[in-house]
Amino acid sequence: MVNVAVLGYGTVGSGVVEVIRTNQEVINQRVGETLNLKYVLDLRDFPGDPVQEIITHDFEEIVQDKEVDIVVEVMGGIEPAYTFVKRSLEAGKSVATSNKALVAKHGAELLKIAKEKNVNFLFEASVGGGIPILRPLHSSLTGDVVEEITGILNGTTNYMLTKMFYEGANYDEVLKEAQDNGYAERNPEADVEGYDACRKIAILASIISGKQVDFEDIYCEGITKITADDMKYAKEMGMTIKLLATCKREGDKICAMVSPCLLHKSHPLFNIDGVFNSIFVHGNMLGDAMFYGSGAGKLPTASAVVGDIVEEAKNPGRNLGVMWSEEKLELEGKEELKR
Ligand code: HSE
Repeated sequence: MVNVAVLGYGTVGSGVVEVIRTNQEVINQRVGETLNLKYVLDLRDFPGDPVQEIITHDFEEIVQDKEVDIVVEVMGGIEPAYTFVKRSLEAGKSVATSNKALVAKHGAELLKIAKEKNVNFLFEASVGGGIPILRPLHSSLTGDVVEEITGILNGTTNYMLTKMFYEGANYDEVLKEAQDNGYAERNPEADVEGYDACRKIAILASIISGKQVDFEDIYCEGITKITADDMKYAKEMGMTIKLLATCKREGDKICAMVSPCLLHKSHPLFNIDGVFNSIFVHGNMLGDAMFYGSGAGKLPTASAVVGDIVEEAKNPGRNLGVMWSEEKLELEGKEELKR
């Protein structure tokens, strides 16, 4: 039996429980033994929900339980997620997370600890929601030099811009709808100011460069200044406005940015609508590839988290994760972009 503890029973945490329970039989077949949800950590109780039987309010119970093999961090934010993840890895447990803020800030350190302890720190769900993108980059494309990644990496803002484009809706009403649908981060500032997309492109840049890319070093502009009129004029010119996150390699230099961009209707990202994300990748041998799918939401994100859990359960002790060093990558061009 492989025992799993889930930290946080919010949107993604409840999705993880739902995915495991719904697909339990096929997951067990793939793992070769039972994948057992042993604990769910949350401050709250959930009377009437079957999850109540495995609720704990005490992280110590999980980290000190030698039977727990995999810890799933889906609490979001930096603390206490960082402390819990670090302690779990140090205790010899593999960790899967959807938490891009944590990965963007502490990824290099947590990967190093995982390596030292012969466990894995996995975070497929941290970029692109349910779209498989990290594993293709560090497995199928590991023989390529990736020269460009450009994508729509935030579902909330893409949902908002799509509504503004098709319905002429204004910013405030579409933000509220995105929040009501559960797409927006707890603090919508992270979505609308571009910070969420910025953390995701920082993670992708770290993977393709093998070095730590700090998201604070990336030029980042969100969609808060985009008005219904801007969208109307874009449309009249046969264009739309999308929030793009980009990372490009030029020789040995890498530049990255997040910014609203005017896209002509001939552009491959023009028709990416709603909460969907799409990621364009150019490899020096591959040429072009596009990844497309559900970039946010409970079950797509949980699907990616459970994919990591199953991979780990199938391959205990095998190094599955991406790796980058703590050496910091100096990005090019932020000051020029500001001007
Ligand atoms: N708030 C994020 C988004 C969730 O809208 O894309 C997934 O990271």
